[in-house]
Amino acid sequence: MTTQQAHTQQAQTPVLTFPTGFVWGAATSAYQIEGAVDQDGRGRSIWDGFVRQPGRVLNGEHADVAIDHYNRYRDDVKVMAELGLTAYRFSVSWPRVQPDGVGEINAAGLDFYKRLTDELLANGVDPWVTLYHWDLPQAIEDAGGWPARDTSKRFADYAAAVHAELSDRVTNFSTVNEPWCSAFLGYASGEHAPGRREPAASIRAAHHLNLAHGLSVQAMRAQSPDTVIGGCVNLYAISPETDSEADLDAARRIDGMQNRFFLDALLKGEYPADVIEDLAPVTDTSFVQDGDMATIAQPLDMLMVNYYSRFTVSGRPGGAASAAAAPTDSGSPWVGSEHVSFVNGGRPVTAMGWEIDDAGLLEILSRVARDYPSIPMVISENGAAFDDVLTVEDSIHDQERQAYIEAHLRICHEAVAQGIPLRGYFAWSLMDNFEWAWGYGKRFGLIYVDYETQRRIPKDSALWYAETITRGGLRAPAE
Ligand code: FCB
Repeated sequence: MTTQQAHTQQAQTPVLTFPTGFVWGAATSAYQIEGAVDQDGRGRSIWDGFVRQPGRVLNGEHADVAIDHYNRYRDDVKVMAELGLTAYRFSVSWPRVQPDGVGEINAAGLDFYKRLTDELLANGVDPWVTLYHWDLPQAIEDAGGWPARDTSKRFADYAAAVHAELSDRVTNFSTVNEPWCSAFLGYASGEHAPGRREPAASIRAAHHLNLAHGLSVQAMRAQSPDTVIGGCVNLYAISPETDSEADLDAARRIDGMQNRFFLDALLKGEYPADVIEDLAPVTDTSFVQDGDMATIAQPLDMLMVNYYSRFTVSGRPGGAASAAAAPTDSGSPWVGSEHVSFVNGGRPVTAMGWEIDDAGLLEILSRVARDYPSIPMVISENGAAFDDVLTVEDSIHDQERQAYIEAHLRICHEAVAQGIPLRGYFAWSLMDNFEWAWGYGKRFGLIYVDYETQRRIPKDSALWYAETITRGGLRAPAE
């Protein structure tokens, strides 16, 4: 084929076009990328101390420097502009803005986010702010952390302060990233900071994270009714291993804890009765006070869905270590589900060992559209870690990551075609970064980071994503 013929063929290949205004983004979070833990008056977060405890993070790695985004944000925004991103989702570090989690705002810390948002806007990239991505101020943890009710109020005050300063230039805010992880990895399995293993406390934490969401939405709306606000949940497709009663019940339980506990709270103002019953041996729910559920279920402009994988579960005893368990010694996040086991669903896996199931995303989106009608959605995280190889020519041929993202974007296209109100997609992650208990071993970025030199190198998936954005859609599969 001549080059001319190739071009003609390309031009003729049908494109699965996304609607105008569809958001093409990438996401990161503060602790995973910023570094600069001692700069400009930042306070301590629960992760600063946690990473120093032996055995918590693979190879004892920490994020004191991470990928130094705090000092390199201008160059990083250039990279985003080159990719053609229309939006960038990042989180604000609570202890950077309010070192002890209460009281006075640290203007120097908040300034960083003003500079960053200005830089994004100047480059045509819409800033999407997440207010909490797991870096609780240590002082708030010392006062009880998420299991303590007061933390919800503290969070709402902090959120209002950030919103007051940024809402002149930021339209899209979201509250708590993945409350499931904060509550159950932080306080039940202990694989994330603060590393506590207190099942009853983890349920209180989950409720207070939901309450923090609701209170902060109220506070931001009171300041500016035009702000677009989302809640962010990590949803999994879940299958029973067989149709046996025990397996079906295991799937109900895990779906209840993972998906419905948060969806029903945020979007219906209730906790699912079956989940409360499952949890009864662990804790009662006397911590849910009158009016809490109405506070939690504030009207939302969008649901932000993080989607990675499917769990296949069985009611066979065998332990409920999560299919996504950390590499370090930890308990189970599946409070009250000790007899559930996670089994191999037989799908290909990423470097995290997470099963790849793009069809599961359609299942999730259809289900939310059916059970919680009229809530617009965005995919706020989706992506994959693979063992990238930097070639001598400075390339990274990450075909598997590209295939993963392409397959999930095809599902997004299908969802939109079916009339599901899906408004955008954020790849996780813009750049390789500190992957929590896995340290730097797992690379999720579209952009490769050489951790020695902090050099950024676009992977093939990034180049492909840029082309997709320019085209406004995916190439239809070859006939
Ligand atoms: C999500 C987190 C994000 C990152 C990805 C891989 O659960 O929100 O920070 O760790 O998983």
